[in-house]
Order: sequence, then structure tokens, then C-alpha cells
Amino acid sequence: MPASPSRRTLALLGLGLVMAAIFAADTLTDYAVAAACFYAAVILAASRILGPRGLVLLAAACVALTGVSFFLTRFGTYRIGLVNSAIGMLVIVITTYLSLKMEAAKAAVQEAQARLLRVARASTVGELTTSIAHEVNQPLAAIASSAEASQRWLAQDPPNVDKARQTLARILADAHRASDVIARIRGLTRGACPERRGFDLNQAVLEMLALSRSELEQHAVIVTTQFDDELPLVLGDRVQVQQVIGNLILNAVDAMDGIPAAARRLTLRSLRVDGGRVALSVRDHGSGLPLEAPERVFDAFWTTKAGGLGLGLSLSRSILEANGGQIRAEPAEGGGAHFVFELPIDDGVAHG
Ligand SMILES: Nc1ncnc2c1ncn2[C@@H]1O[C@H](COP(=O)(O)OP(=O)(O)O)[C@@H](O)[C@H]1O
Ligand SMILES: [Mg+2]
Repeated sequence: MPASPSRRTLALLGLGLVMAAIFAADTLTDYAVAAACFYAAVILAASRILGPRGLVLLAAACVALTGVSFFLTRFGTYRIGLVNSAIGMLVIVITTYLSLKMEAAKAAVQEAQARLLRVARASTVGELTTSIAHEVNQPLAAIASSAEASQRWLAQDPPNVDKARQTLARILADAHRASDVIARIRGLTRGACPERRGFDLNQAVLEMLALSRSELEQHAVIVTTQFDDELPLVLGDRVQVQQVIGNLILNAVDAMDGIPAAARRLTLRSLRVDGGRVALSVRDHGSGLPLEAPERVFDAFWTTKAGGLGLGLSLSRSILEANGGQIRAEPAEGGGAHFVFELPIDDGVAHG
């Protein structure tokens, strides 16, 4: 975790003091006391604040101090001192090597996670492509036909200016609609690094429903929203949370594909829950969760779909946990699946 500059300086100062204390103990005690081994603790603590170069330099300093202590110590058996100093140095070197390895592994994991999130982002947009194309095409087609109409109104003799003006107003409204859709897609693909800030969850849900509209219409899904109008802002990365909402909507559409059209109902409800949190409940009337182990749906690569990746829900869980939230799945009363996720509310305190 990157510490702020002042905390980092303070931590480094603390480590310096500990090193001085170890040096004093190593110098003033008998050769038989292998105090130098405690430098390993300094290395371990420093590995969280220093880069690889800094850590190697620190390790070199620790090895040098061990050597100096050995020459300054006046008590005990020289041979035991020699062996203990060598062991101390070895411990320092091994600890440094392992710390460097561990930090590199951590960086690799973070990199892989970031890459997965980018894939998730692309795949949500990909899965919505048909719906999105339709959402942009519709106003464009309307604009074309309104333009033709206004040409006709103006070609009349005398020209019907009033009608032409009305048609132009429609063109303007449709142009705004198209650019709104584009703005939403931009929002959905923007921002490589997560950004946690307060946002309106109801609004975020409405936008995802708008982007999935033609997908929902095509599958004859009836959507009901029950929004708490006094919902406080939630804290999280808006774009990432919208990925989760998109995943849940698309999964619900898939799950209800096999049931009669009249029963394809999807309900999204926002509410305040205990502990200063906000929840979104997504309930469908589809095929339902695997009875024996509902939690399996969150396993990576677990899918029952021919073209499925089985990553949507696993990524959704990672996203929510990274945003201080959680998600669970349970069978819905009367059939279907019920997904609930929670996020902390934005209490106005600055978050780093
Ligand atoms: N709303 C739902 N109703 C029933 N089953 C679901 C629902 N959502 C997810 N599942 C099950 O969980 C599996 C994993 O979902 P997900 O992680 O989104 O991957 P994918 O959609 O690619 O299969 C799905 O294949 C499906 O079997
Ligand atoms: Mg899915």
C-alpha cells in the first residue's frame, strides 16, 4: 500500500532507529549473541516502503553494520563471533532475496488483476454491442426521416414553416439522444485506473438499463425498478460498478431465455441497509441457481452456457470487494435467482 510522503518518512526514521538499536546491541553484547539476525525484521518492514534498489542498498548497509559490529565487539570468543556474524549476514541476504521475490510476485498479481478488469470491461461492452448499436441507430434513422419530412414541408407552396420548425426540433432531440448514448459508452470504457468517489447508484442503474434496452426488448424482458428516492451517494468506482450491474442484467436475460415470455420479469431494487451501506437487489424469474451450491456461480470459469466464459460473476465479486462491498446470490422465492450487492455510502470523508 503506498504510504503518504510524511508517513513514509516517519516509517523510514523509525526503521533507522531500530537499526541503530540493533547495531548497539550487536556491538555491546557478547559475540555469542547473534543480534544481527534482527536486521531481517528491518528488511521485511522496509520491503513495503522501499523499491528494489532501496532495499538492496539497505541490505548492504545492514551487512556492513554487522561487519563493523564484529570488529568493535570486545567480549566473547572470536570464532563464535565470526560464525555468528556470517550467519547474520546470510540471514540478511536471504531475507532480502525473498522479499524482492515476494514484492515482484505481488506486482505480477496486481498487473494480472488489472488486465482481467480491462478484459471484463471490454467483454461487457462487447456483449452489449448489438444493443448499443441499436440505441445509436434508432435516433439516426429518426433524424434521417425527420429531415426528409422537413424538406417536404418546405417544398410545399407556400412552404409550411411551422411544421418544418417542429420537425427540426425533433431532429435536435434525436441528435441529443444519440450523443447521450455515445457519452454513456464513453463513460463505460473510460478510466484505466479505478477511481473511488461518491455517485448516485439509481442513476448508474438507469444508465445500464438504457444501454441494455434493446437487449431487454428483444428478449421480451419486463423490467421493474423500485428505487429508494432518498438513497445516499455510494462510494466506489462508478464505471466498475456499472460493469457489475451490466453483468447481472445480461445474466438475468440469459437465465430467462427458456421460460414463457410473459413470465420474464426482472426487478431491480435499491435500498439502504444496516451498517451505513446501500444495497442493490437484482431478482429474476429465470432458471434459478444451482441448488446444491448457489455460491458456485461466483467461481471463475464456472459456466453453464455454450459460449460462456464464466468470468462475469467472479470478476463482479472482485470488483465489489475492491470497492469495499460484497455480493451474494440466493434462490428467489417463487423461482429464479436473487443477487444482492452492497456498497459503502459516501460519508464525505476523503478517501485515498
Ligand atoms: N441470474 C441467474 N440465474 C441463473 N443462473 C445464473 C444467473 N447468473 C449466473 N448464473 C449461472 O452462473 C454461471 C456463471 O455466470 P457468469 O460468471 O456471469 O459467467 P457466464 O455468464 O459467462 O456463464 C452462469 O453460466 C449461470 O449458470
Ligand atoms: Mg455472465
